[in-house]
Amino acid sequence: MKKLQTIKILAIESSCDDSAAAVVSYNPKDKQINCLSNIISSQISIHQKYGGVVPEIAAREHVLNILPVINEALVKADTKPSELAALAVTIGPGLITSLITGVETTRALAFAWKKPVIEINHVEGHIYANFINLEKPIKFPAIILTVSGGHTLLARMSPSRHLTIIGETRDDAAGEAYDKAAKMMNLGYPGGPIISKLAAHNNSTKKINPQLKFKPINLPRPMLHSGDFDFSFSGLKTALLYQLQKDKHWKKRIPAYCQEYQQAIIDILIAKTLTATKKYQAKTIMLAGGVSANNELRQQLMRAVTINMPRTRLLIPNKEYTTDNAAMIGAAAIFKYQTNKTSNYPHLRSKASLQL
Ligand code: KG4
Ligand code: ZN
Repeated sequence: MKKLQTIKILAIESSCDDSAAAVVSYNPKDKQINCLSNIISSQISIHQKYGGVVPEIAAREHVLNILPVINEALVKADTKPSELAALAVTIGPGLITSLITGVETTRALAFAWKKPVIEINHVEGHIYANFINLEKPIKFPAIILTVSGGHTLLARMSPSRHLTIIGETRDDAAGEAYDKAAKMMNLGYPGGPIISKLAAHNNSTKKINPQLKFKPINLPRPMLHSGDFDFSFSGLKTALLYQLQKDKHWKKRIPAYCQEYQQAIIDILIAKTLTATKKYQAKTIMLAGGVSANNELRQQLMRAVTINMPRTRLLIPNKEYTTDNAAMIGAAAIFKYQTNKTSNYPHLRSKASLQL
């Protein structure tokens, strides 16, 4: 392996409803991971009318989109297959009927181009979104809050980049909590961006007319003081349901419900992240996953870290690397390539389990 040359990896992601491909490069001299292209074919508009992802439809769309997306990623990065050091692909967790298109396409291309394949865990990929375009090296240990539609967990990363899960959700993921609440209030899919927008609208209404009296909505903060780093969001969702059922006028107060619901999620996420940072004396905090696109979460976490632990560095990925994308898979693959965790022959083994 030529370690001092810039390496380029083509990464492919198809774990849910986005067909994505990216070319990332690593320069060993300045140790920078750069994203040369990041192409995503989103299926949101197709699944929206069903209120969630329909696996059969997602699978069919991946088959149509995966090769054009890969081609576009290579063209945009001005990269020929012969210049690639390796191919990388998400092997799970995710919808198996979606994953299979990305995995088998990658294996077939790697076989034809005689390149190794690097298999990446999707959640690990989200974490590595923080390593793209970094100005200075990360100091470890780091605490990572990963919040997506399928996962919510707190992990600790050691200087050798070993990941240990220190807490996770016992039921719904944070993104799932957003999606289910939006469904409950008939707001559409995916719920995160919609609830976040409505919550912001509630804030601005209050600012314009602070005299406006709203009967306060109080939702619980489940497991806030549980003494561990686990989460639980299904009780919060049920509490929202009961409050909506009791309130005849809830449809007129949707932004207020969205704001309180979002704030309950954010309060729990931030409190547990700060406690974990203190306990493990972490030098860095990273945010990852689709919910990390949320403006309030980003801003409130930034504020909380600046006030409570100003010496801790907070990394938040650029928004384009928060929801599902292939650049994050490429960034995780760079590290595995350096540590020789490649497989030289496309093979049929599939390990879709979480391997953090
Ligand atoms: O990471 P991701 O794209 O897919 C999974 O790996 O699950 O995350 C998708 C989740 C969805 O639940 C979506 O509602 C949520 O991320 N999400 C957001 C925002 N954008 C996406 N949640 C809150 N605020 C947002 N702006
Ligand atoms: Zn994801």
